[in-house]
Amino acid sequence: MSEFGGAWSEKKLDCVSSYLEAYHTALKNKDFQLVYIDAFCGDGAQKTRGGEDQVMLVEAALERMRGSAERAVSLPTPFHRYHFIDKSKKSLAQLKEHLLGLKPELAERMHFHAGDVNVELPKTIQSLNPKRERAVVFADPFGMQVDWETIEAVAACPIVDFWYLVPTGLALNRMATTSGNMPKSWGDRIDRFMGEKEWRERWYRRTESDDLFGRIETVEKVADIKLIEDDFQARLGKAFPLVAKNRMRLTDQGRVLFTLMFACSNPSPKARGLASNIANHLLKG
Ligand SMILES: C[S@@+](CC[C@H](N)C(=O)[O-])C[C@H]1O[C@@H](n2cnc3c(N)ncnc32)[C@H](O)[C@@H]1O
Repeated sequence: MSEFGGAWSEKKLDCVSSYLEAYHTALKNKDFQLVYIDAFCGDGAQKTRGGEDQVMLVEAALERMRGSAERAVSLPTPFHRYHFIDKSKKSLAQLKEHLLGLKPELAERMHFHAGDVNVELPKTIQSLNPKRERAVVFADPFGMQVDWETIEAVAACPIVDFWYLVPTGLALNRMATTSGNMPKSWGDRIDRFMGEKEWRERWYRRTESDDLFGRIETVEKVADIKLIEDDFQARLGKAFPLVAKNRMRLTDQGRVLFTLMFACSNPSPKARGLASNIANHLLKG
């Protein structure tokens, strides 16, 4: 069972499930097959951390099995196809057993892919048929696992609504150290995540001055969570024709962990308008 989450995790899952429901309603009279892709599906048994209080502990226990995958297969109207991706073969096997027990009638529609998101998600996206299908992708990572090239592969497929849990506080803001000195591997990781190196120029101010010993460079971190959120939303806007204006900050004990963002790859203004209305409404909280 994954030990991850708390009230903030519920908030994120509620938002995405509400979107999936509204998505079905909005497309119910269209002739599309609807596909759900869970890019970090987990083992289906996300553990919410309750408090000391017994009622909370009981509630937490009841919520143990309601991760993103279970929520998606339990919607009033099922998707035509489900793709579940996770790096951990063990988690995927546990999820499969759980979902097949829960919804045996959907067995033929469920596909399980063990492997890295940066390999499996682009492959799954390429298997979609833009003429017949419409898809929602949910990327719910622990941290910095998604490379920018994977985001570009999602954006290149013109039928995808994309929910992304961006590790703004948990990883990006922490890895971008105050001094600007960070292990090379951290800088390289942010480069792969952002798909460019220029974030350094936006997140840090460099000033040069002269002193007795010559020219010195001072580096000041100007990025805070808000700047990082704005910056990443703007990056998404370079890949997708639509990025929802609103976003949802997820905090634990006052600390920002993630920011939930939404983007849509559909070039049709009507499809984008609809997706943006629903997503912005839900992201308002
Ligand atoms: C936050 S959990 C997912 C929770 C799930 N969405 C839920 O609601 O229960 C993250 C999952 O990502 C998987 N994971 C971590 N790195 C990965 C990678 N590079 N590619 C695919 N899956 C990965 C982990 O095995 C873990 O199960």
